[in-house]
Amino acid sequence: MFTLAHLSDPHLAPLPAPQWKELFGKRLTGYINWQKKRRFIHDAEKLAAIVADIKTQKPDHIAVTGDIANIALAAEFRQGRDWLEALGPAKNVSLVPGNHDIYVSEAAAFAARQWGAYMNDDEDVGGFPYLRRRDNVALVGLSSGVPTAPFLATGWLGAKQLAELAATLNRLSTEKVFRIVLIHHPPTTESAQHKRLMDAHVLKRVIAAHGADLLLHGHDHLHMINWLEGPNGTRVPAVGVPSASARPGTDKDPAAYNLYQVGGGPGAWQCELISRGLTAAGEVAEQKRFMLTD
Ligand SMILES: [Fe+2]
Repeated sequence: MFTLAHLSDPHLAPLPAPQWKELFGKRLTGYINWQKKRRFIHDAEKLAAIVADIKTQKPDHIAVTGDIANIALAAEFRQGRDWLEALGPAKNVSLVPGNHDIYVSEAAAFAARQWGAYMNDDEDVGGFPYLRRRDNVALVGLSSGVPTAPFLATGWLGAKQLAELAATLNRLSTEKVFRIVLIHHPPTTESAQHKRLMDAHVLKRVIAAHGADLLLHGHDHLHMINWLEGPNGTRVPAVGVPSASARPGTDKDPAAYNLYQVGGGPGAWQCELISRGLTAAGEVAEQKRFMLTD
């Protein structure tokens, strides 16, 4: 049995003080949005409670599907590296970036420098998609974070990354591994225009052609499950989690994370989803448990 914990969108708080030269364009609108709204949603104490609960569950591996940062200040990447290092060593934690991490054009280089070890493949090489093998599980990490204009939170994978994803999933389909795809944006074509994954329709075609066993995402800050079409009439669950730092009482779900217990083998995989999150009493407890496989 392999246990994977999945959390997303920690949006680390408090936001470090920006330098004046950093506050223009998209960072400026994002900073105003943080001060007016988002700082009342994302709470370091709630995130610490979620992380502490993950540690008590002793998962074999942890997946983080992006949005560690808020407006991609240089100091947020240093803060993010400290948070990642406290979460676990890079070999036990797999990260994919979100739109708030790649908020502006210089941010991809910051992320690679400070968080690269958590996004590298098994040969310690950077780039997306990456492939990390752990026990009977193959983790395939995608980057959908791209700089966009103010007020947009769209994502984009691009033809090159999607072609490499197709080749990777195809190669893995002949191996005895449970294939888990990690991406920040949900792979849905119905999402609101301003925050959708622009090439979700191509991603869905790749999954339909080559298959995967599970797709994990964040971005919408909600518990979500969508069933994607896989090859030969199969269905692939795409599961989203709330922000791991969200206070209760907002218009999104309170902080939570999911555990996946993977057992069985090819043709007979078994995967149980256990959802744990903040209760009204402010503790982290199990909220839901069900089999994702038949
Ligand atoms: Fe987010």
